[in-house]
Amino acid sequence: MDTRWKPEYEVGHPRIDSEHQVFLDLIEQFTSEAARGVDAKRLSRHCAELYKYADFHFFSEEGLLESVGYNDLEGHKRLHADLLKSLRIFIESISIDSIMADEMAEFLLGWFVNHTTAEDPKHIHFLPKTSPYNR
Ligand SMILES: [Fe+2]
Repeated sequence: MDTRWKPEYEVGHPRIDSEHQVFLDLIEQFTSEAARGVDAKRLSRHCAELYKYADFHFFSEEGLLESVGYNDLEGHKRLHADLLKSLRIFIESISIDSIMADEMAEFLLGWFVNHTTAEDPKHIHFLPKTSPYNR
């Protein structure tokens, strides 16, 4: 699985891109730990870290979209909520069976690639390139 950052993941908004880079970094860390078969306690901790970061990033991205009155905010929020729901299911399974960690790593990377290249570009041109956080 190739978890390196690629130019096609860039959506062109500095804050969203930097949050996406951290998110991919956490996916990469989780993937390599799952592949090395680290203990379930550590894997669970990293799952929780991933979940919290995804939750933060979605809240942050949705805030930006809300500030510009993006017309499909509800639809985009649903995609984010669905991912969080899937992650919660994976996290529960991992505490029971660490084999699920490999499956979760693969699912997450697939979701990340699809979301950044197919879904986020739909809203990105609505956003000004700067935000109070980028100044
Ligand atoms: Fe998004």
